[in-house]
Amino acid sequence: MAEPSVPSTARMIDFWLGGSDHFPVDVAAAHAFEQAYGPCAPVFRSLRAFLGRSVRHIADAGVDSFLVFGAGVPTRGNVHEAVPEATVLYTDVDPVAVEIGQRMLAGHDRVGYGFGDATDPAGIDPALRQRFLPGWGERPVGLVFLGLAAFLDDATLARTLDDLYAAVAPGSRLAIDFDTEELAAYPEALAMMGPAFRMRAPESFAGLLGRWQPTADGIVPVARWRPEGAPEVVPDAFYGAVAVKPAG
Ligand SMILES: C[S@@+](CC[C@H](N)C(=O)[O-])C[C@H]1O[C@@H](n2cnc3c(N)ncnc32)[C@H](O)[C@@H]1O
Repeated sequence: MAEPSVPSTARMIDFWLGGSDHFPVDVAAAHAFEQAYGPCAPVFRSLRAFLGRSVRHIADAGVDSFLVFGAGVPTRGNVHEAVPEATVLYTDVDPVAVEIGQRMLAGHDRVGYGFGDATDPAGIDPALRQRFLPGWGERPVGLVFLGLAAFLDDATLARTLDDLYAAVAPGSRLAIDFDTEELAAYPEALAMMGPAFRMRAPESFAGLLGRWQPTADGIVPVARWRPEGAPEVVPDAFYGAVAVKPAG
């Protein structure tokens, strides 16, 4: 693989989680970000733990296939590791992420990785959809939308979530997170996130979900979403929720 010349947030997260699928450019960017903000590993470990709890909760509701948007690097406690009995299709718009993911998952028959733009899910390769999301539109599916909402403006995010709601079968569930205004106090770190990055006030999160109905756990800081034991003590940089398209 040709070495990328620009860093990616997904590979920086891989670095912070102790993975091995990142490049020197990502490590340099991760160090620069931490200079401007502070330690990131505990924050992303907490976010990844939320991913695990949320997808296991969805699997416990009887869902056995997952479509992951903005998947980044599919390791370090990612969806197929948290729910190994499920089929999982990871997608991302970044060709480097797709290449890393396909290489990593080459030996798996229940887990795949393909190109996918979350704002145009109809563009996902139908053969991959058929293979890893059998009964799409007729059987409930788990949608994983983590680390992605912050890169979509309000109108695009709300439309995308509504289109997904319309496309999936009743009983489907959505795991989602939102970035808070945590970085407002760290302008240098905020600038590093680029012009597309959107912080939001927690009051705005519910409205963006549209028809998706959050579970009784609510939309809360990820460390406090159904914690197993004492919640991690980390800044409330991300709020998370599982939301449902009710059956019937
Ligand atoms: C902050 S990373 C999060 C990666 C991963 N979900 C995680 O939590 O570790 C955001 C990812 O979203 C991807 N992305 C950005 N816009 C996207 C879009 N419209 N559709 C799909 N993926 C997108 C980026 O390429 C990147 O891999």
